[in-house]
Amino acid sequence: MQNLVRTDPEVAEAIRNETRRQGSQLELIASENFVSEAVLEALGSVLTNKYAEGYPGKRYYGGCEFVDVAETLAIQRAKQLFAADHANVQPHSGAQANMSVYMTVCQPGDTILGMNLSHGGHLTHGHPLNFSGRYFKVVAYGVRKEDEQIDYEGMAALAREHRPKVLVVGASAYPRTIDFVAVRRAADECGAVVMADMAHTAGLVAAGLHPSPVPHAEFVTTTTHKTLRGPRGGMILCQEKWAKETDKLLFPGVQGGPLMHVIAAKAVALKEALAPEFKAYQAQIVTNAKALAATLMGEGWRLVSGGTDNHLMLIDVFAKGLTGKVAEKALDRAGITVNKNTIPFDTNSPMVASGIRVGTPALTTRGMKEADMEKVGRLIARALSAASDETRLAEVKRDVTRLCDQFPLYAARLGAYDAALAAHA
Ligand SMILES: Cc1ncc(COP(=O)(O)O)c(C=O)c1O
Repeated sequence: MQNLVRTDPEVAEAIRNETRRQGSQLELIASENFVSEAVLEALGSVLTNKYAEGYPGKRYYGGCEFVDVAETLAIQRAKQLFAADHANVQPHSGAQANMSVYMTVCQPGDTILGMNLSHGGHLTHGHPLNFSGRYFKVVAYGVRKEDEQIDYEGMAALAREHRPKVLVVGASAYPRTIDFVAVRRAADECGAVVMADMAHTAGLVAAGLHPSPVPHAEFVTTTTHKTLRGPRGGMILCQEKWAKETDKLLFPGVQGGPLMHVIAAKAVALKEALAPEFKAYQAQIVTNAKALAATLMGEGWRLVSGGTDNHLMLIDVFAKGLTGKVAEKALDRAGITVNKNTIPFDTNSPMVASGIRVGTPALTTRGMKEADMEKVGRLIARALSAASDETRLAEVKRDVTRLCDQFPLYAARLGAYDAALAAHA
């Protein structure tokens, strides 16, 4: 980073500090992960300089022969990994992937049926402040009160009643396996197309640890930066008959020039996801989540739906008199990073929330296993039960640091940043 230090030491220092923060705290945000050095190298490459509107072989700019190679590799690998007919790897984000699917299928004012945000759905599945809620009529299904799992019968009844153009399935905070067969059945009853947003579970799907939505959905969207462990970005998989229209709606419908450095990094991450080690990594994510859930429940904390099938869990902190907001802040002071989250049938607003969402992908990337998850669970429980006791939170933080030190992250990179900044000082 010598050049950056020379040109802009303030930004260089911020990057160094963030690198150190990522390694010195317990990162439990369920939607985050740590990419490989190979992915970072592709992201930081000269491909950022290239305009390449269009698709491989059909660009609006000259000089695209090498970015075409990168994008073609990303497409081929995405199709292979998920057994999909067609892949568009250009969405800048998950939100833009979802927007372009809606635009492919719907006209403004059409109805979409998506999961209630406070039951685990995502903003782009119909929140009133999001484009999805502003341009489409939104009907929401949710989870059952008894077991906090998706009410597929309720979903089918709403589909029959409202006849949506798109049935959206997939979530940001749902700890259970999704039944795509039941979703397909509900959609077929009303002639809707299915958009499965597997942003959270894409890595698990790739490894065969969560059922694949691909055989059951016209469209599958995802982000590439969560369990899939790639760069920030999105992706659309679709059936062949929707391929042309999907590509046209993403570009020029929703986006302009693709981010070729990000697309190259997606290709790298997809190659990593095709390697046998990736299956073992995803299996460890799930095993770790189960171990963490068992520890937390053993410490007396209630988990939404009573546990987890995937990489995340929701702790109902309100059941013990805390809010999500207070819990998030207390854990932060103890060096544990999570996000507050509403839980189904929450009586608190989203800014306060009754729960926190906890996920294992990032710590699993660092090499942590079940025994470490038990330690993490006990550290969380200790911090939550001392939410307003700064002395005890500081003690937890010391133990967090000790655990983090056993699992170095980006160590060579951090050393190089430190050296470059020290030389400049
Ligand atoms: C299920 C789901 N879909 C879409 C998105 C949006 O992704 P992005 O933040 O890349 O727009 C998210 C992000 O958290 C998500 O959880």
